[in-house]
Amino acid sequence: TNKITIAIDGFSSTGKSTVAKQLAKHLGYVYVDTGAMYRAVTYFAMEQGFVSSEIFNKSDLIAKLPEINISFKFNQQLGFAEVYLNNENIEKAIRSLDVSNLVSKVAAVSEVRKKLVEQQQKLGKDKGVVMDGRDIGTVVFPDAELKLFMTASAETRAERRFKELIGRGDNVSYQAVLKNVQERDYIDTHREDSPLVKAHDAIEIDNSNMSLEEQFQVILKLVNNKI
Ligand code: C5P
Repeated sequence: TNKITIAIDGFSSTGKSTVAKQLAKHLGYVYVDTGAMYRAVTYFAMEQGFVSSEIFNKSDLIAKLPEINISFKFNQQLGFAEVYLNNENIEKAIRSLDVSNLVSKVAAVSEVRKKLVEQQQKLGKDKGVVMDGRDIGTVVFPDAELKLFMTASAETRAERRFKELIGRGDNVSYQAVLKNVQERDYIDTHREDSPLVKAHDAIEIDNSNMSLEEQFQVILKLVNNKI
């Protein structure tokens, strides 16, 4: 069959990475979590003291960008690739609400986007890739054969993210998670560089009332029409 590029964009916590992982496994494709890359840069900036809820020292972060090396290594046990920052496994650390609360600020910086988009284009250059994010179908791979745009109500999404965080032992409140989801969506759709927007040729999937299996079957049909 024909190897294609699958671009999955959408708002926070719409289940993009869940379906992207399912598809990659089923098709034998590479899965690239671009949100993890923006989270990795945010984690770095937090460690260096460049960003917090009070400060954002953009120019220092920009100057240090060449020192940031992000890589993915497949974890057999988990069945997906984990993200590394300068060879340190930060997969768990980047999923915290602290990182979530700062990532959209960092992701709005053009220099950050330029660096990460270049790496994403390299990772996907041979096709056979499922990539999820906010600008994959619009900026990273505007020629992707299949573009999906995932949506669900903010409450549904916050509920899912809340369960995920509680499940990993984080002590967070539902209200704090809902606030984070809404704030990120606002920043992501209003930023100047590569705002989150549905590509004109993307297919919208509202999964508020779909089970994971239903969603996977719907999307698999769309994939099978392209390969
Ligand atoms: O997908 P995830 O929720 O992990 O993404 C975290 C944040 O990274 C998003 O809220 C957004 O600010 C940023 N992001 C982005 N472009 C992408 C992927 C993520 O700006 N392609």
